Amino acid sequence: MKCLILFSGFWTVWCEDVGCFWHITDTHVDQNYSRTGNVQNLCHEDRNRLQSKANNVSDNGLYGNYLCDSPQYLINATVLSMKYIQSTPDFIIWTGDNLPHTEDFDPGWDITFEAIRNTTLLLTSTFPNVPILPSIGNHDSFPPNILPADNAASNIYKGYLEKGRWKDLINESEWTTFVQGGYYSHLVKPGLRIISLNTILWYEPNNLTAKLTDPGNQFQWLDGILKNSSKFSEKVYIIGHVPPGFYNRGLPGQKCGPTFHLPHLESYLNILHKYSPVISGQLYGHLHVDMFQVYQYNTGVFKGSSLLASSVTPWHSNKNDNVSIPVNPSVRLIHYSRTDARLLEFDQYYLNLTKANNITKMPEEKTNVYELLYSFAKFYGVPDLSTESLVQVYEILKRNKTVFDSFFTFLSAGERTVDCDSACKVTQICSVSCSSSQEYDMCFKSSDYNCSTTPNPPPHTSKDSVIIYVSICFVTVAIILLLLIVVRKFWISSGRSEYSRFTSI
Ligand SMILES: *[C@@H]1O[C@H](CO)[C@@H](O)[C@H](O)[C@H]1NC(C)=O
Ligand SMILES: *[C@@H]1O[C@H](CO)[C@@H](O)[C@H](O)[C@H]1NC(C)=O
Ligand SMILES: *[C@@H]1O[C@H](CO)[C@@H](O)[C@H](O)[C@H]1NC(C)=O
Ligand SMILES: *[C@@H]1O[C@H](CO)[C@@H](O)[C@H](O)[C@H]1NC(C)=O
Ligand SMILES: *[C@@H]1O[C@H](CO)[C@@H](O)[C@H](O)[C@H]1NC(C)=O
Ligand SMILES: *[C@@H]1O[C@H](CO)[C@@H](O)[C@H](O)[C@H]1NC(C)=O
Ligand SMILES: *[C@@H]1O[C@H](CO)[C@@H](O)[C@H](O)[C@H]1NC(C)=O
Ligand SMILES: *[C@@H]1O[C@H](CO)[C@@H](O)[C@H](O)[C@H]1NC(C)=O
Ligand SMILES: *[C@@H]1O[C@H](CO)[C@@H](O)[C@H](O)[C@H]1NC(C)=O
Ligand SMILES: *[C@@H]1O[C@H](CO)[C@@H](O)[C@H](O)[C@H]1NC(C)=O
Ligand SMILES: *[C@@H]1O[C@H](CO)[C@@H](O)[C@H](O)[C@H]1NC(C)=O
Ligand SMILES: *[C@@H]1O[C@H](CO)[C@@H](O)[C@H](O)[C@H]1NC(C)=O
Repeated sequence: MKCLILFSGFWTVWCEDVGCFWHITDTHVDQNYSRTGNVQNLCHEDRNRLQSKANNVSDNGLYGNYLCDSPQYLINATVLSMKYIQSTPDFIIWTGDNLPHTEDFDPGWDITFEAIRNTTLLLTSTFPNVPILPSIGNHDSFPPNILPADNAASNIYKGYLEKGRWKDLINESEWTTFVQGGYYSHLVKPGLRIISLNTILWYEPNNLTAKLTDPGNQFQWLDGILKNSSKFSEKVYIIGHVPPGFYNRGLPGQKCGPTFHLPHLESYLNILHKYSPVISGQLYGHLHVDMFQVYQYNTGVFKGSSLLASSVTPWHSNKNDNVSIPVNPSVRLIHYSRTDARLLEFDQYYLNLTKANNITKMPEEKTNVYELLYSFAKFYGVPDLSTESLVQVYEILKRNKTVFDSFFTFLSAGERTVDCDSACKVTQICSVSCSSSQEYDMCFKSSDYNCSTTPNPPPHTSKDSVIIYVSICFVTVAIILLLLIVVRKFWISSGRSEYSRFTSI
């Protein structure tokens, strides 16, 4: 409970009921991780033992390695740490990518569902009675990155429910849309709805849906559910694996690719814009880095925002012709207002992988191995995580080098290996603030990261502020009139005729 004393004519105590939830994403657990495996091949034991010897491996680490995906030990330690830090969150969001980045094996659907089931059971047994809301990632399918939008799809989605045990998480009443397209919505409590999207249907590498206008009818459904939420005055958090917009890990000074097929990006941004007053938060994963986005929806005014959580896996590609940075494993505790669903703060927890792997003694079970890296609103000095506050942070990042430097360290959960020069900064800032392709192109041409395709409107001319202004004037005049009538009655009854000139009003 957070209380404020307000003075608004009367002294009043206004209390905000604050709740919290966990965001865990991109676990990428790899059952074939080996402490003595080949670090050039995701820490897998080479099939050829001689090759393994030549590699001369000492130890890839108990908790994992920056060139490899997560060992099961890391996932267990992460979930136990979450429980240690906050065992009774209101709910947990789990935004996908549970399989490793393998190219040499063909795990197949059975292994895929087994890996997902393992994490489902780990989460439900560690957090009994806490609602857990999952989303599908591009590494939750076989082969990775693609999901069909035809009749074959519903058997796949049934697989998540049955074999992945998501039927323990998703309410039976929500299975209809899940079986149809891998998406669902869940009313967490009256007034707060979570919409879990299947972003893989729009994902750029998904060649099975590239030519479809509305794969899985997800746009139509999303529009309908948001229309209903507006009608019933609900607030909504949208959760999903892949965020809209453009990547931020690219070659310095060069543009990165879009995350979605461009027509799908456009349709999605249009819906987000249309219902922006209802959407109190957007929460995604996929990029493996700690980022946020502010959206202008091609209007020249910031009207929405998202928070992107960094990964549990420390993996990064070791191709040197590419800007790819290692990250520390991390999870995030988000604080929100139970009163009006405003996102208030997040605490970023991380595991210092180098430090954790350096311990000689096997640690006791059930202890917390994670540390607090920073708390966003507190660090940047903003009141909450609203779009206005995120825009304020974006403005600071543009002009303050010191603060941008911290942002870049947090980006990889404290594992700072490269510096971000001015070309790199353009790539970061444009990815934060420009999500449509017109805006993004504009940003790279501009000298100051400007991606507004329309001029900034002068203040107080938007339709909404005119209505508010007129209403305030009206109410003020009404109050004055009322006071005058009361005063007049008072003076008349007490016979003060010298004020009778007021009777002309
Ligand atoms: C192989 O590892 C051993 C001990 O871990 C070390 O002494 C040796 O120098 C390594 N050889 C090569 C070629 O790296
Ligand atoms: C992780 O936790 C699961 C469930 O508690 C357990 O079955 C498994 O043995 C653990 N694995 C490791 C490597 O600790
Ligand atoms: C682990 O290796 C086995 C044996 O090669 C393979 O069948 C399995 O698919 C691999 N698991 C994953 C998750 O890649
Ligand atoms: C699932 O968990 C079991 C038991 O801990 C383990 O043996 C198996 O390798 C895990 N499967 C995958 C795909 O990670
Ligand atoms: C599932 O949905 C039904 C009907 O909407 C509701 O009564 C029930 O409480 C829900 N169960 C959970 C676990 O949310
Ligand atoms: C889609 O891409 C996959 C590889 O990601 C490939 O195997 C498949 O043939 C492609 N399908 C089509 C229809 O292009
Ligand atoms: C919106 O609400 C109406 C009636 O309350 C319901 O019939 C309809 O299915 C809802 N739409 C969606 C997309 O859930
Ligand atoms: C990074 O490397 C991958 C794989 O080689 C490639 O697909 C991608 O386009 C590269 N990204 C950039 C920004 O160069
Ligand atoms: C590893 O631990 C040793 C002994 O506790 C310590 O001296 C050393 O500085 C540590 N190394 C790193 C990289 O943390
Ligand atoms: C940048 O921000 C830091 C921390 O808020 C502050 O101390 C410093 O004065 C700022 N620098 C500039 C140039 O504004
Ligand atoms: C992580 O631990 C290493 C080795 O102990 C240390 O050098 C580094 O500064 C730590 N990183 C952070 C972000 O604390
Ligand atoms: C961005 O550029 C547009 C078009 O050139 C201009 O109208 C607008 O004022 C600029 N916005 C900012 C914040 O500089």
